[in-house]
Amino acid sequence: MTSAATTAAKIKTTSDKAADTRGLAGQTVGDTEICSVNQTQLIYRGYEIADLAANATFEEVAYLLLVGEKPGPQELKEFKDELVSMRPIPDLVIDVLSKIAAPPPEVHPMDILRTGVSLLSHVDPETNDNSPKAELNKAKRLLAQIPGVIGACQMIRDGKEPVYPDPNLNHAANLLYMMTGRKPPELHAKVMDVSLILYAEHDFNASTFTCRCIASTEADMHSAVCGGIGALKGPLHGGANEAAMEMLKEIDQYMAAGKGTVESFMQNAFDTKRKLMGFGHRVYKNGDHRAGILRGLGLKVAQQQSSGGGPKLTKWFDIGDKVQKIMLEQKNIHPNVDFPCGMTYYVMGIPVPQYTPIFVASRVTGWCAHIMEQHKDNRIIRPLANYVGPGLKKWNG
Ligand SMILES: CC(C)(COP(=O)(O)OP(=O)(O)OC[C@H]1O[C@@H](n2cnc3c(N)ncnc32)[C@H](O)[C@@H]1OP(=O)(O)O)[C@@H](O)C(=O)NCCC(=O)NCCS
Repeated sequence: MTSAATTAAKIKTTSDKAADTRGLAGQTVGDTEICSVNQTQLIYRGYEIADLAANATFEEVAYLLLVGEKPGPQELKEFKDELVSMRPIPDLVIDVLSKIAAPPPEVHPMDILRTGVSLLSHVDPETNDNSPKAELNKAKRLLAQIPGVIGACQMIRDGKEPVYPDPNLNHAANLLYMMTGRKPPELHAKVMDVSLILYAEHDFNASTFTCRCIASTEADMHSAVCGGIGALKGPLHGGANEAAMEMLKEIDQYMAAGKGTVESFMQNAFDTKRKLMGFGHRVYKNGDHRAGILRGLGLKVAQQQSSGGGPKLTKWFDIGDKVQKIMLEQKNIHPNVDFPCGMTYYVMGIPVPQYTPIFVASRVTGWCAHIMEQHKDNRIIRPLANYVGPGLKKWNG
């Protein structure tokens, strides 16, 4: 075995997790002024996430991330007006979506959204202009138009005509409106607004790092965002909010079929070394700062829906709490934000395959802020690899 191969084998079998640097675990790979993630705090440009969730709106947070500072009243008004004016999506995009989003075949909305953003690059007047001014314009257009792509995709999937954005609704409420054609209840709009704040930014997570890698080649913002969407789709990253809800539905069906309890489902999962979606985090080992905030709001929605004589939607939180307790007691692993997100969006009546696209509608702000930061002080991202392949051989020998 080569010495490089010996090192890799040592890493793979080590019981010392701290020495396992696969997946760049524990490695600091660059500087950022945008966000700080650590065991005790999640901070966007100096503001703590609980403070933002309680006191800011998503539009204010988007401005903070993209422009770099808290907006004043006039700046906020202009930013909101600009976003509203940019909301309508071009006919070209609607035409293509109407061909690809209508099943069959059933195409995942993340794939539709990736194509939608790629199409937006064809009609954006500044696609290949990487100047700071053009990039801020493009970031605003992407932020304003992604809800339209998500909404049109859902309406087409449901066999309906896409609707025009409603200029009287804020970003979160308009996103929900565009997916149904109905103005959302106040609490739903509020909960969506907070969830967008919670999802907006998270330093060098996989999708943001992907965006930065693409941007570092001096490629354009749309290309980088398409890459970010691809990275976010995976169930170990953004796709976990959908996977978490699918798992809760599986537990519910398991119990309804008389096969056992939450406890026995969990024991089976542990015995088969199954990964439980919506749990664990590369950075947070004592809990995700965002999870408790979203769980509280989601439960409020479930309680409101249930008290109106509808089905008892709080059951999802009862099952979720049991899963959470068992995970903590037996594995000492906490839920991440995707766990309560799954339940919250479910009780709001949002179709499960749209949970990760909604994550995009928010995270695009963080991605664009990072793409701009990368371009401001660029050097191509090109790390080294530790070769562990075979030794030198002769092609003709
Ligand atoms: C998020 C995630 C990818 C982080 O991966 P990571 O940093 O490589 O994981 P860690 O090194 O912290 O894992 C430590 C141990 O806990 C286990 N673990 C971590 N998350 C787990 C989960 N969700 N279910 C079961 N076991 C889990 C790992 O298998 C590992 O066990 P081992 O030491 O026996 O190999 C991982 O926790 C995961 O896959 N979670 C589920 C998907 C998810 O919710 N993603 C959204 C993240 S915001």
